[in-house]
Amino acid sequence: MRAVFASRNPHKLDQVRRLLPEVELATLDDVAPDLTLDEPFDTYESNALGKARAVVDATRLAAVADDSGLEVDALGGAPGVMSARYAGARASDEVNNRKLVEQLHTVPEEERTCRYRCVAAIVYPDGRELTAEGSCEGRVVLEGRGTLGFGYDPHVVPEGETRTMGEIPLDEKLRFSHRGRAYRLLAQKLAHPGSLDESDVVANPLEQFGKWLRDAIESQPGEPHAMTLATAARDGKPSARMVLLRGLDERGFVFYTNYESRKGKDLTENPQAALVFYWNALDRQVCITGRVTKLTSEESKRYFDSRPIGSRIGAWASHQSRIISTRRELVDRFRELMSRHGLDIPLPPYWGGYRVTPDTIEFWQGRPNRLHDRLRYTRTENDWVIERLSP
Ligand SMILES: Cc1cc2nc3c(=O)[nH]c(=O)nc-3n(C[C@H](O)[C@H](O)[C@H](O)COP(=O)(O)O)c2cc1C
Repeated sequence: MRAVFASRNPHKLDQVRRLLPEVELATLDDVAPDLTLDEPFDTYESNALGKARAVVDATRLAAVADDSGLEVDALGGAPGVMSARYAGARASDEVNNRKLVEQLHTVPEEERTCRYRCVAAIVYPDGRELTAEGSCEGRVVLEGRGTLGFGYDPHVVPEGETRTMGEIPLDEKLRFSHRGRAYRLLAQKLAHPGSLDESDVVANPLEQFGKWLRDAIESQPGEPHAMTLATAARDGKPSARMVLLRGLDERGFVFYTNYESRKGKDLTENPQAALVFYWNALDRQVCITGRVTKLTSEESKRYFDSRPIGSRIGAWASHQSRIISTRRELVDRFRELMSRHGLDIPLPPYWGGYRVTPDTIEFWQGRPNRLHDRLRYTRTENDWVIERLSP
């Protein structure tokens, strides 16, 4: 497809051409040389949409735009949406950077945490609009380094790096940068514009789930493996809590916990559970029901041994779900165990994994006007049946 890129920044154009190879991007100079674009709004999304809509109005062609900014915690999130004009309406990168350094020179390095955020948008002449957001955590350094970026790049060191954004080559940077993440998600939405068709899904729901999980890992900020686990006691009383998906294969969904916790007791009395995943960046939900079995202690031990020492000691220190009188009691037990144990920490007999073997897996894709798509897989003797449910 063709679209106009709503920016005159050649660095951005270069980045976006690499990130959206399936879109043939025309420049603003080619199609609307006299058009001026403003960023008058107070969110990245409104500015990105505002610019794209202005280009669509002027050209009747589809338009791609983005807005991004640097949010510094010690400055209450400034410069944020004002990043490009932090030191004045037409301030250069150099002048903006100078102001940033002046504002932060008395702030200790460990408090100069920040994040870049970007919202990318595409607007079509028929009024359809898609947006996607990406962010990248980091910290500000006062000494600017590198010429491989623009904006505040010479002063921003991304998490896990020692180089500034200005020192990291573009192809490498696009893998984790705010703009890279926003446009990859936009590309995903362009390829699968939020619909779920019987012809799009594979016959095996676990394989289908694996695809959606990979999409979520790529685009869902936070914890894409988090799921709500609902259980019910013998008397039918339900309870729910979050746990982390720690294993997935043909047999089902694995999580680890304390077998004597509330959920553990429920599952002993009634080995049935429901799981719910929600990935808001993709407007997707997956609901699972199934039978629950314990992993073997060898399987649990293998996972337990891979955990950091603090988590392993924590499993010994916490009698999960029991009432304790003070936090101190827990912390003291943790310290005492820490000093007693060497590196070889055995698997607690009451701790381990559960596997939910699914009977049903429902994939839910949000769509406009609440006409969402819902496809439910139900296990039969030796296969799966797929049915569409009304939203
Ligand atoms: C994002 C998130 C992930 C969690 N992951 C786990 C987990 O994998 N295993 C676990 O036992 N508890 C986990 N917890 C804590 C549980 O939600 C819960 O507090 C704990 O397991 C006790 O639940 P219960 O009293 O209902 O048995 C997690 C909490 C959050 C918010």
